[in-house]
Amino acid sequence: MDKLSVRDLDAQGKKVFVRVDYNVPIEDGRVVDDSRVRASIPTIRLLLENGAAIILASHLGRPNGKVIDSFRLRPVAERLSALLRRNVPVTGDALGVGTNDALARLKPGQLLMLENLRFHSAEEKNDPGFAKTLAGYADAYVNDAFGTAHRAHASTVGITEYLPAYAGLLLQREIEMLSRLLENPERPFAAVIGGAKVSGKIAVLENLMERVDTFIVGGGMANTFLVARDMTVGKSLLERDRVEDARRILRLADEKGVRFLLPVDAVVAKEVTRGAEHKMVPSHKIPNSWSVVDVGPQSRQAFEDALAPARTIFWNGPLGVFEVPTFGDGTRGMARYLARRADEGATVVVGGGDSVAAVEQLKLAEKMTHISTGGGASLEFLEGHELPGIAALLDREPEPVPAATRKRAVATSKRA
Ligand code: 3PG
Repeated sequence: MDKLSVRDLDAQGKKVFVRVDYNVPIEDGRVVDDSRVRASIPTIRLLLENGAAIILASHLGRPNGKVIDSFRLRPVAERLSALLRRNVPVTGDALGVGTNDALARLKPGQLLMLENLRFHSAEEKNDPGFAKTLAGYADAYVNDAFGTAHRAHASTVGITEYLPAYAGLLLQREIEMLSRLLENPERPFAAVIGGAKVSGKIAVLENLMERVDTFIVGGGMANTFLVARDMTVGKSLLERDRVEDARRILRLADEKGVRFLLPVDAVVAKEVTRGAEHKMVPSHKIPNSWSVVDVGPQSRQAFEDALAPARTIFWNGPLGVFEVPTFGDGTRGMARYLARRADEGATVVVGGGDSVAAVEQLKLAEKMTHISTGGGASLEFLEGHELPGIAALLDREPEPVPAATRKRAVATSKRA
């Protein structure tokens, strides 16, 4: 999966179409988490330094082919302008006369952002005509939208039929860090997997099973595993149709000698709301009319003890309902613990919207080895799938083997 990168592109005087993932949370016309915007800056700066004119393109939300004002990219362009300290204008539409005029005026060293690509249904349909029009805006294509690399859309895949296509610096780093987990993790390797539902995590659990020494499971999805181990979970979130899958995963872990830790105690609440009555119980005594909302202190200690020898840790998904602050101790505790471990030299990779949000809230992002900007994309990558947005980029040709080495290799094989 060695792809040509933006560093291989001679960008001088060229118009470069840069696909970014600016699908970021916006409230009251402001970007509330700008990590994806900041993560795109190294590629933008490199291209500007190398004399390119940049056409930035992204989707925002799921407007399903309609123009919806709350999904306009203006707040993102404002945030990017502030970060770059230069004006980033946005076109009124990704297509049309106004855009063509703005493109004609675009000079090396300048940026232009296209309006939300998903205002056109052709984007998600990977429509060749739409892809060709977008390609016509530029001389080269750079994909830095790791978060969207699992989507085969016009701006992530179709466009590469018409332009030389390179990986951006963010995309490259994501590939490098996540591949390290799959290919060559320093051992022991532990994965902490949480979040509400087990259904979206089965494939990643299966693929990582071949590689990890320890699994730690928390969050709503742990309930399905507790039931698979013959416990009851009261009113808690449970995917009854996944209990058999959970049993299979537990059996697999047994067979492979992978430690599989579930919460041994839990915070349970009458309602999953702020201010609700709550208490601590052992996992095998969850009362009938209560819901699990967080892991308990004994679980947290057991998780930290199990993680203590790990040299590589991957974390995806919160361990409780952390958006309700009283039920966020498990998730926040894990974020703090992992930041400490990263500080001590362990490789810590965090992926997935909510666990990343917890790390960001605590201002611990800088401490981690890598924070993935991809939610679905990082999971699909770790499931072992080749992501279409990455597959479509130009391959780096293998270095030619020097003639002398080649001759020696032939002579050796003849002797064998
Ligand atoms: C994401 O935030 O996961 C990406 O931007 C992809 O968005 P999508 O799930 O709407 O395709």
